[in-house]
Amino acid sequence: MYIGSIDQGTTSTRFIIFDKQGQIISLAQKEHAQLYPQPGWVEHNPDEIWCNTKEVIQKALKQANLTPKDLVAVGITNQRETTVMWNRYTGKPYYNALVWQDTRTSALVTELSAEAGPDRFREQTGLPLATYFSSLKIKWLLKNVATLEKDALKGEVLFGTMDTYLLWHLTGGMKGGLHLTDVTNASRTQLMDLRTLQWDEGLLETFGIPRSILPKIRSSSEVYATAKGVLEGVPLAGILGDQQAALVGQTCFRPGEAKNTYGTGCFMLLNTGDSLTQSTHGLVTTVAYQLGNQPVQYALEGSVAIAGALVQWLRDNLGLIEKSSDIETLARTVEDNGGCYFVPAFSGLYAPYWRSDARGVVAGLTRFVTKGHLGRAALEATAFQTLEILEAMEKDAGVRLSELRVDGGMTVNELLMQFQSDLLNVPVVRPTMIETTALGAAYAAGLAVGYWKDLDDLRQNWGIEKTWKPQMPRAKRNAMYRSWRKAVRRSFGWEE
Ligand code: G3P
Repeated sequence: MYIGSIDQGTTSTRFIIFDKQGQIISLAQKEHAQLYPQPGWVEHNPDEIWCNTKEVIQKALKQANLTPKDLVAVGITNQRETTVMWNRYTGKPYYNALVWQDTRTSALVTELSAEAGPDRFREQTGLPLATYFSSLKIKWLLKNVATLEKDALKGEVLFGTMDTYLLWHLTGGMKGGLHLTDVTNASRTQLMDLRTLQWDEGLLETFGIPRSILPKIRSSSEVYATAKGVLEGVPLAGILGDQQAALVGQTCFRPGEAKNTYGTGCFMLLNTGDSLTQSTHGLVTTVAYQLGNQPVQYALEGSVAIAGALVQWLRDNLGLIEKSSDIETLARTVEDNGGCYFVPAFSGLYAPYWRSDARGVVAGLTRFVTKGHLGRAALEATAFQTLEILEAMEKDAGVRLSELRVDGGMTVNELLMQFQSDLLNVPVVRPTMIETTALGAAYAAGLAVGYWKDLDDLRQNWGIEKTWKPQMPRAKRNAMYRSWRKAVRRSFGWEE
């Protein structure tokens, strides 16, 4: 028997089937369209994502000659914050999903910050006011989509992050689909109180959101329901936002353990156990996971909006490379960045700056600079952003990280991993399994049905594949970091 995991990410949807050792038995993946109707707007078509989900499930099962009966449970993990609203009777979305990277709510951020500062909801939700979280996306949709607010008041509208949307469909949709989410996803909406783990009436009122559209909040690991349709009869037993799933997949269960995932964006999470640590250095406080009825665990998170997305942009918008993996070859055509720094503030800057007025800049250009330097600067951008996060995390948590566990697609890039270690001046450790996001959701589901006994059982599956050690002289590192920060300052103030 195996465990299945649906990983609904920003660029694609995957279904991965794991065995007890956490090894991949089968994997199917499909990209969906990224829609950019205006500068700063990013949307996904929810119907397309649901169709892709069914397709990858069927494909992965078929590839391995399996049927749903061979799965003891399925977990769901997803891009967080991305907001979809649909009609409970027709199943029809009212609008495309507003993706976490979308900045159309920046005027609302300014407006609400003017009243009581950008940190007015931090104490309660762990999050600053930013275009990133679901609260303002829901507010925007209610105000701008015809009939949505009216239908919401009639009780016809359901809101969900992608986990909720998929679970509703997987459990029957219009014919009695379940409307629920887990604590990790709920913690990214900016509508849940981090202590009570419930939707907060005061927040709902401030953002003008009717309670009736919100899903029930449950733990990250329990049997929510038995699936209908494409996964007929399989218990759906785990939900985790993708970054929290990676933390679980990396088995960072002890306070002080951290991971950094290099995906579309880049997200570092530090487990802080059952203590709620408020950041004073620009990080966010978030729910790490809650396994069944055990106490909720918290994390500090450093969120970077653009990492792998910059490589995609070089590929799709500039045609500089043909496929994403070509970036390493391109970057290796030169010895260093040639003085060029690329700040990819395409969605403003998230942690530790939280500047929705920032926009991308390339600084330090001379005639010497080639496309190789640009490719290198693009990769280095991810490493610099990670350095800023790590510094903030060490200050907030008062600990010094002795190594960094990494995962996600970009970690296949050896040049980036070495540079990351050089910049951080700590070893960077890549585990044998880098599909930790999907694995984490499988773990959550597997724990709920007893496929894995306990956390120690999961730790057994973790192993190191490669470690990079720092090699860069301190003076060089410091000089580069100074230039990076200068470039970052140039990115501020583009959108008034
Ligand atoms: O908060 C956004 C995050 O969940 C997206 O993750 O893997 O699509 O970069 P990813």
